[in-house]
Amino acid sequence: MQGSANLNLMIKAARKAGRSLVKDFREVENLQVSAKGPGDFVSRADREAERIIKDELRGARPSYGWLGEETGEADGEDPTRRWIVDPLDGTTNFLHGLPHWAVSIALEHKGEVVAGVIFDAAKDELFYAEKGLGAYMNDTRLRVSGRRNMIEAIFATGVPFGGRSTLPATLQDLARLMPVCAGVRRFGSAALDLAYVAAGRYDGYWERGINAWDMAAGLILVKEAGGFVGAVREGREIFESGSVIATNAEMFDPLTKILRQPA
Ligand code: IPD
Repeated sequence: MQGSANLNLMIKAARKAGRSLVKDFREVENLQVSAKGPGDFVSRADREAERIIKDELRGARPSYGWLGEETGEADGEDPTRRWIVDPLDGTTNFLHGLPHWAVSIALEHKGEVVAGVIFDAAKDELFYAEKGLGAYMNDTRLRVSGRRNMIEAIFATGVPFGGRSTLPATLQDLARLMPVCAGVRRFGSAALDLAYVAAGRYDGYWERGINAWDMAAGLILVKEAGGFVGAVREGREIFESGSVIATNAEMFDPLTKILRQPA
């Protein structure tokens, strides 16, 4: 795919941060880890990866705004564009030596994500998409799965950690969904969950209590691969709702029906 200069910049930044993270991952037991809250960790690896990405992106496009998991928000002169970055999505996996984590970088324009890159550096899988140009993994065009029957479908989710208020609703979702589908996975990286929906590995994914940086890049991947995205609560904006549903073209209605049932 012939992506824009912005997409190429995002890919360059993701690869550079990915190389730094792979180096730290090899010696993960030596990393100093601190807890931002119960079950919410950060290390030098996350901070260094965000520094690398910020230097690349803001160096090249100083006028764009910024939202990063580790450094927060910063306005730019151009109020219509901002980078949304999770330098290390799947931090808990990373710190436990589990090779399932990714760099996630999105570009938002006038409130819509227009380009996204998710780099699984441990497996060398680079997922990327740009509005109107499709979604890819390395050189392969991505399509969501074609599965139509819920009973054959596999879904992914995130189970809220640290006693978050969304835990009871998530447990209720699981109780309702698991008997009627082929299985639910919880791999610990929302960015990769979304990339896997785009790649047709999962038929759908939902999560309650999730941040914009965890999902921004994945949203455009799913849409450009032919899938659907929305908030768990009907009529809400995805980022503002802090929740997401992303599926192939067939599973959106049946999954939302289950998740939107009253308690
Ligand atoms: C977390 C992961 C996890 C999801 C959490 C996120 P982090 O991101 O994506 O899968 O369930 O909601 O916070 O903290 O590893 O960047």
